[in-house]
Amino acid sequence: MENLISLVNKIQRACTALGDHGEENSLPTLWEALPSIAVVGGQSSGKSSVLESIVGKDFLPRGAGIVTRRPLVLQLHKIDEGREYAEFMHLPRKKFTDFAAVRKEISDETDRETGRSKQISSVPIHLSIYSPNVVNLTLVDLPGLTKVAVEGQPESIVQDIENMVRSFIEKPNCIILAISPANQDLATSDAIKISREVDPRGERTFGVLTKIDLMDKGTNAVDILEGKSYKLQFPWIGVVNRSQADINKSVDMIAARRREREYFQTSPEYGHLASRMGSEHLGKMLSKHLEQVIKSRIPGLQSLISKTINELETELSRLGRPVATDAGGKLYMIMEICRSFDQIFKEHLDGTRSGGDK
Ligand code: GDP
Ligand code: NA
Ligand code: MG
Repeated sequence: MENLISLVNKIQRACTALGDHGEENSLPTLWEALPSIAVVGGQSSGKSSVLESIVGKDFLPRGAGIVTRRPLVLQLHKIDEGREYAEFMHLPRKKFTDFAAVRKEISDETDRETGRSKQISSVPIHLSIYSPNVVNLTLVDLPGLTKVAVEGQPESIVQDIENMVRSFIEKPNCIILAISPANQDLATSDAIKISREVDPRGERTFGVLTKIDLMDKGTNAVDILEGKSYKLQFPWIGVVNRSQADINKSVDMIAARRREREYFQTSPEYGHLASRMGSEHLGKMLSKHLEQVIKSRIPGLQSLISKTINELETELSRLGRPVATDAGGKLYMIMEICRSFDQIFKEHLDGTRSGGDK
């Protein structure tokens, strides 16, 4: 199954590259058929922090106020061994091994699109991370939902952000990480509000409760985490990310994870829930869910892939081989990927499939 997810990642990348190239064919449809995971929630609820701890790396700009101003489409690729590195689609062939430089490039590339302002842009930044320490996932970091425009922002920004977020999470194949801070009333949660709108039955929404360490003394989140206050299809997951003070002191990810684990294990309130709390557990849950989703979609994806191969063949013969142009080269590469994907489908489905092709 690991191969399958890794191939899905490759296809998504290839399709996005082609989409950027402005070609017109059916590949965006293929891209849309594959699942991804997006983080939604109010500003500073901890979205970027949650993504970072799933990845186990410091690389995202975080902090108070509107820091994330463009969608970031992040693909995690598990490699067997070797040093981890990152690559941006807008900087092909440049390998980043310094993750502080990755963070800087995200900020710089945000500014290139929006200017050094508090404006937002819906044009995504594409980043891939290759590491032995990740599970294969595609994650999307999104700007936070807000209530009012601040100095330097147009009045329309509240609605603009909401529309942008909705455009990602309304896709039926998007798995939603709805981030709510535990130190605010759940009834005011922007994450729950918008995810319930697009996924009323909660079939693809995971509720994540951040800032459990910041709750008022004498209160706790047990009722929420046990699903008694607001029931979701999947169990709530509580996390403790690094505080701003930790970030300022450069507390590293490994120490933060260990502390998070200890926090739940030794807590008088949450001890009984410890095995299903924390960022590591969240990462595992997501990977498992993603595999199930992909598996259930295999027959649909397979016919889409066959259709794509046919279309690409037509397109390539129209261009005429040997293909010298960049566009043709890309088509050719994608077709190769589709073919190996098709092969994997066949292997996975041998003997398990009863229905015929569409
Ligand atoms: P985003 O705006 O939703 O992406 O939120 P960020 O991840 O940028 O976090 C906003 C601020 O909240 C940062 O200063 C984080 O250090 C802090 N923060 C996030 N999660 C937690 C948490 O679980 N506990 C504590 N103490 N601080 C957190
Ligand atoms: Na923030
Ligand atoms: Mg953020």
